[in-house]
Amino acid sequence: MTVTELKTIRTDQVVPPPPILAIIMDGNGRWAQARGLPREEGHREGAKVVRNITEYCREAGVKTLYLYAFSEQNWCRPPEEIAALMGLLEEFLIEEIPTMLENGIRLGVIGDPARLPEETRAALARALEATRSCTEMNLVLSLSYGGREELVRAAVRLAKTGLAPEQWRESSLANQLDTAPYGDPDLLIRTGGEMRLSNFLLWQCSYCELHFSQTPWPAFEREELRDIFALYVQRQRRFGQTPGQVWAKERVR
Ligand code: IPE
Ligand code: IPE
Ligand code: MG
Repeated sequence: MTVTELKTIRTDQVVPPPPILAIIMDGNGRWAQARGLPREEGHREGAKVVRNITEYCREAGVKTLYLYAFSEQNWCRPPEEIAALMGLLEEFLIEEIPTMLENGIRLGVIGDPARLPEETRAALARALEATRSCTEMNLVLSLSYGGREELVRAAVRLAKTGLAPEQWRESSLANQLDTAPYGDPDLLIRTGGEMRLSNFLLWQCSYCELHFSQTPWPAFEREELRDIFALYVQRQRRFGQTPGQVWAKERVR
């Protein structure tokens, strides 16, 4: 595909999605506060968007969708807000099983879910078990997740394998990360206007394409995601090469 052809892709055309997509779902609290509502209402509305966007990703052909649902650092929020978030998570895990099974969606989790309340952990275990044979898409929830914490866990696991440090390669560490079964994201989207990673997938995003949206998560719609996918296919991922080198390879393909 030439550069001119690339630029002519219209956003109403069906474009191939990034195979591995990660989303930092931010802006729930501010969305609610701007409407005079308690922050919890933003999270409730945000949960509806999770359903809608997951469905869209499945239809579009995304293979793995990472969602940042609750960070390690979010444990410092007010207890009432944490309780509301855990309640919504539990609700989601119970209610979504039939839809996930219908659509071939396998649930996955990264982070430190041992810190979650018991009932939430139980609902999580049930949903993981119920969907384990699904093969169409992975929905990977990041729960009590922190990128640095994950790297430390991976380093400890690697040290325990007994592999001599001289033999350690990039893949040795990558294989010990929570994300090892799923791989690195091709595209990361953060909603809510902030332009930071907030400790999400630090290792895995080393060559990820980034997209920052002003839209708060509760207002994020399929049409915007479709447009982001359309922009994504126009990007040239060079991985250190020159543009010419990449074009030459694409011509051969
Ligand atoms: C994201 O929205 C949801 C979680 C972090 C759990 P926020 O709650 O961070 O909303 P803002 O950023 O305060 O608007
Ligand atoms: C990141 O959002 C975590 C999630 C979306 C779950 P935060 O709202 O917690 O991030 P900061 O604190 O603004 O960086
Ligand atoms: Mg936030």
